[in-house]
Amino acid sequence: MDGVELVRSVGRLRTLGARPGLRAVRWAWRRRRTDAVARAGRGPELARVPGSVVGAQPSPGGGVVRFARSELRIVVAVGGAVFWGWDGAGPEPSYGLAAPVPEPDPRAGLEPDTDGGWRVVSQRVTVVVSRLGAVEVRTPGGVVLRRDLPPRWWEPEGGGPGRWSVRTEVAADARFFGLGGRSAGPRLRDGAYRLWNTDPGGSFGPGDDPLSVTMPVQLVVADAGTHLVFHDSTWDGLVTLREGREGDGSGHDRPGTVELRMAGGPLRCWVVVGTPARVLARWSRLTGPAAVPPSWALGPQHARWGFGDQEEVWRVVAGYRERGLPLSAVHLDIDHLDERRVFTVDRARFPDLPGLAARSRAAGVRLVSIVDPAVRAGRGDAVYDAGRRIGAFVRDGRGREVRGEVWPGACAYPDFTDPVVRRWWGELYAERLGLGFSGVWHDMNEPVAFAPFGEATLPRSARHVLEGRGGDHREAHNVYGLAMARAGYEGLRRLRPGERPFLFSRSGWVGLQRYGGTWSGDVASSWAGLRASLALVLGLGLCGVPYSGPDVGGFDGVPSPELYLRWFQLGAYLPLFRTHSALGAGRREPWEFGPMVLEHAGAALVERERLRPYLVTLAHLARLTGAPYVRPLWWDAPGDRELRDCEDAFLLGDALLVAPVLEPGVARRTVRLPRGRWYDTVSGRAYDGPGRVLLEAPVSRIPVLARAGSVVPVRGADGGIELEVWAPVPGRKGGGLVVPDPGDGWERAEVERYAVRWAAGRVVVRRVRGDGAVRPDRPVRVRGGRGQR
Ligand code: GLC
Repeated sequence: MDGVELVRSVGRLRTLGARPGLRAVRWAWRRRRTDAVARAGRGPELARVPGSVVGAQPSPGGGVVRFARSELRIVVAVGGAVFWGWDGAGPEPSYGLAAPVPEPDPRAGLEPDTDGGWRVVSQRVTVVVSRLGAVEVRTPGGVVLRRDLPPRWWEPEGGGPGRWSVRTEVAADARFFGLGGRSAGPRLRDGAYRLWNTDPGGSFGPGDDPLSVTMPVQLVVADAGTHLVFHDSTWDGLVTLREGREGDGSGHDRPGTVELRMAGGPLRCWVVVGTPARVLARWSRLTGPAAVPPSWALGPQHARWGFGDQEEVWRVVAGYRERGLPLSAVHLDIDHLDERRVFTVDRARFPDLPGLAARSRAAGVRLVSIVDPAVRAGRGDAVYDAGRRIGAFVRDGRGREVRGEVWPGACAYPDFTDPVVRRWWGELYAERLGLGFSGVWHDMNEPVAFAPFGEATLPRSARHVLEGRGGDHREAHNVYGLAMARAGYEGLRRLRPGERPFLFSRSGWVGLQRYGGTWSGDVASSWAGLRASLALVLGLGLCGVPYSGPDVGGFDGVPSPELYLRWFQLGAYLPLFRTHSALGAGRREPWEFGPMVLEHAGAALVERERLRPYLVTLAHLARLTGAPYVRPLWWDAPGDRELRDCEDAFLLGDALLVAPVLEPGVARRTVRLPRGRWYDTVSGRAYDGPGRVLLEAPVSRIPVLARAGSVVPVRGADGGIELEVWAPVPGRKGGGLVVPDPGDGWERAEVERYAVRWAAGRVVVRRVRGDGAVRPDRPVRVRGGRGQR
């Protein structure tokens, strides 16, 4: 145990108190022992590489290349995604993919390459397999995007799952992104990144890795092209990244390298090549479209661990109202539960939760409930007893229920990889809906079992159903939160079929977006924490999870008024905009930080509400196109190297560029602009990119720029949608999409398309329909343009 881990363990034990602390120690020992027993007798390992090619068998979309000691199956799917699997691995079963897996593209097929190798040529990508099993992905023009050297396996002599590793080379100029939510991102620099969902135990900052949502998904952006690779194994892994170096032009570049070591699971992957927008579109088709949160979940939300009682919650709701501050939802943490037990209420402090929910709702504020997976293991606990009856809880190799210490004490863990358990768990949400809650917040689902030493999760040898295949925690760990999200989402859909569920989850894996979003988890209340929280949102979006946001103000401490305000101003432009804090970390209401903060935070809240129609549009477009709301500046220009390295600003949809203040004492900041004209949304002043500009960033606001020619749907004075149109550069055209809120149900969202151009010295806006262009029936306000430069 290193020093940091020791300090954390002591901290956790203090939070737990003496008796639970002792229990946690006992279980940590038991976990170590159970795993040691499971490991014993596993004998020596044998190393293996594919060996030389011995033959090939074409089939639709690709075929199988046989080697002396393995075989490689390659399929190019309709739409251009490429799959390959070693040792006969196919795409299914998979927790990451959405059914059905795309069909093979019949136009692609295996053909002989030079030197005894084989290749598959398709419209968008060429895959070349060497004689010894190296796999290259090339653009149709023949430029190499990645080269995987032949893999290696290490397998137990007596059989059983083996470890494997693959080493990949990419272009010297390539940059890495993704791997789930990484505090050190969005650009992932040289270092080792673990694939094992982990509660950092206390708060985290930029150096802490891994966190709650890890994914074996890399987005690699290079001059030659962008590609995404997904290694579909849920096991523990380590990704070691090393950016390349370009030589002096004499051809001596050092390529970037990725070494992926996985503790088990099939060696199979998907590669998607194209522009960032195309890559994310195909990725969302593979892993499933993102759930669209109800519109209210795109408004401002407030949480705190330790509201105390229902009157206090009401005082907060009333406090927002009295000050004219918009608020969409309040989140109740574990302190509203009876002894912190899931699906209960502390009736002494919350005697009338349905009443509170109704009163809040009448004031336009919904209630969201925390839901932790661990169930207090004690006869008499209704959830525990019911779960026991159906054998819902995870057991160890000897058949005993696994125990862990979590907030309510000694707990059992539902096995969400069992469809029967998911169904049972989903039904339990009826109790939450009955209390008047409108959404759920899944927490502690890495899953956590507090431990003073070793890993704060279940023993690796714990057994899981894994959809009937059976296996242990090594395979189930990373998808525990994902499977819990599925249980919750499907349960809510069954219980309230007319409404889209609102769910976000601390832990997750590839495909989490099918069920909901996520949040930063316990990010430190520091400037470094603020920066990390933006990195997380950007990285998750590039892995296909578009809805997320941080604990505004940071989780664990009392932010200075300046830090709180800057965080608030950033949060106002992120999909999940929620203030939250730990027990004892002070309050997060905007009026708690003095009149100056109240004034400027209030302005951020009002602007967020004004932009609600734009956020609703982005939520629907994320579902339809796979594009995250929050995008890196290089989204439309992956070839712009300066943009690739810019980590302190982002695009919100197509129209806005947001440049948050991430440091103290800042009154102006430089912003690297992508190509085109950009207007400061407050001053209306125009700036032309590409290039750097210095912008005012007074405490009252962070710089937000609008792209010339864009159409931003905003809330008008009458509550309807108004089109804020930013003048195109004279002689150029513009346009944009608007998706009006179809309500909280399942009505099909209609996409309105607008075109913008100059005509006779005026900016003209038209709605484009199948039958021609018509005058928009929404109010239009043109901004920017001549005279305002
Ligand atoms: C975890 C969550 C945090 C929550 C706390 C108590 O630390 O990440 O958001 O407030 O548990 O439930």
